[in-house]
Amino acid sequence: MRDRFVYRLTLTIVVAIALGFALGLIASLFLKVSFFVAFALLSISSAIMALTIALALPSLLEPLQRLTIALKRGEEPSGLLLLELGTLGEAIAEACKTWHETVSQLKEERALLQTILRRMDEAIIVAQENGTVILANPAAQKFFQLPNDYAQRRLTELDLPFGLMELTQNALRYKLPQMGEVQIIHPEEKFLDAYATPLLINGQLEGVLVVARDLTKLKRLERIRKDFVANVSHELRTPIATLRSLAEALLIGGKDDPEIRENFLQAIADETERISRLLNNLLELARIEAGQREWHFQNVDVAEITGQIVDRFSLAASQKGLKIKAEIPEELKVRTDPDALMQVLFNLVDNAVKYTHQGEVIIRGERFTYTGGDWVVISVTDTGIGIPPEHLPRIFERFYRVEKARSRQSGGFGLGLSIAKHIIESIGGKITVQSQVGKGSTFSIWLPSSKLD
Ligand SMILES: Nc1ncnc2c1ncn2[C@@H]1O[C@H](COP(=O)(O)OP(=O)(O)OP(=O)(O)O)[C@@H](O)[C@H]1O
Ligand SMILES: [Mg+2]
Repeated sequence: MRDRFVYRLTLTIVVAIALGFALGLIASLFLKVSFFVAFALLSISSAIMALTIALALPSLLEPLQRLTIALKRGEEPSGLLLLELGTLGEAIAEACKTWHETVSQLKEERALLQTILRRMDEAIIVAQENGTVILANPAAQKFFQLPNDYAQRRLTELDLPFGLMELTQNALRYKLPQMGEVQIIHPEEKFLDAYATPLLINGQLEGVLVVARDLTKLKRLERIRKDFVANVSHELRTPIATLRSLAEALLIGGKDDPEIRENFLQAIADETERISRLLNNLLELARIEAGQREWHFQNVDVAEITGQIVDRFSLAASQKGLKIKAEIPEELKVRTDPDALMQVLFNLVDNAVKYTHQGEVIIRGERFTYTGGDWVVISVTDTGIGIPPEHLPRIFERFYRVEKARSRQSGGFGLGLSIAKHIIESIGGKITVQSQVGKGSTFSIWLPSSKLD
């Protein structure tokens, strides 16, 4: 502050002396006054003038100074300050308004873009030309399990699938969009539809945009559809071939021997029955899937239904030396479709008896409160061969059998559980399984315990 004052004073004196000297010289030449008098008078008046300007200047510059500080801080200058600045203030106010509008528009656009990126199912990653990641939306963070500090890391550090990295590098190298299907094998099989687009600004490569869509579900459905056709053909081929050879054998001469004829005709009847059972099961699945099966909800006495099931299977169970019983609280009622419940229990108990060689099959029922809802849970427990854990996730798929040969011998198509699951889900419930190899299995039906009529 002091330095500035000394500087200004010195400047004032120097300017005054210079002006006084110059004007004194001119005055002494033209006004015939002594040079020193003219010099002194003019020096004094110049000094006063220079001092006035020097003193006035800071107060003129002061609002500008405050304005600079406000703008530097990103603050809007106050109305009073703009008033002090007069016309300049008006221009600045106008500029500030435009600036504000532009900034808030940019903020809105940015927020919109972020919402879109957050909501997108597709994984999106943007990286600079040198591979430094600048953006990854939540879908990408989740899908590729990116570390929290993914930003500013190189793409190569993020452990992205090899196929995706290849597409990205090619997009950067050839400056051309790349697309392809990427298969991930570890930790679980997944399929991606991926695009890598170079980001060119004025022809200059600035980075790369990577977009990946999860195709796993679609692929799985495609595979199920293909397997389904293959399975149906396969299941039909065997009985049809058997029928043909039986018919041929009868035609060749078998028909003349009463014993052979009897046996062959019985075999034909059995195979025909098998084919018709397969077709009925397939039709049933198709009807449920197409939403064509109608459900008739009513109050169902669980003990009554399970009692009927026990009666139906008691002969088959006793022939295998198995005990079968139902332990259901008397008052247990549920609002559901009785035929559907009966069909599902039939499939579960059929399996329990089929895959148990000694011990017992018990049907239990109880009320259960779980994940905020009330359920009626009916379970079928057996002491049978059990299901190895690696098969459990696929057990409800169509045509899935743990031991294909053994199950086929026992007449199964691998459709019972898949039908059971479809039915239970269609009536608002769910079905779960717990199993231990060599110890047995428990299949549980969860039905929402809605109000009874
Ligand atoms: N209680 C059980 N104990 C052991 N394994 C079972 C049990 N229930 C089902 N499984 C296994 O799950 C597979 C699928 O069962 P699912 O009922 O769908 O078909 P299936 O009994 O073979 O034939 P289907 O029911 O069409 O006659 C069976 O082949 C069997 O390997
Ligand atoms: Mg079955």
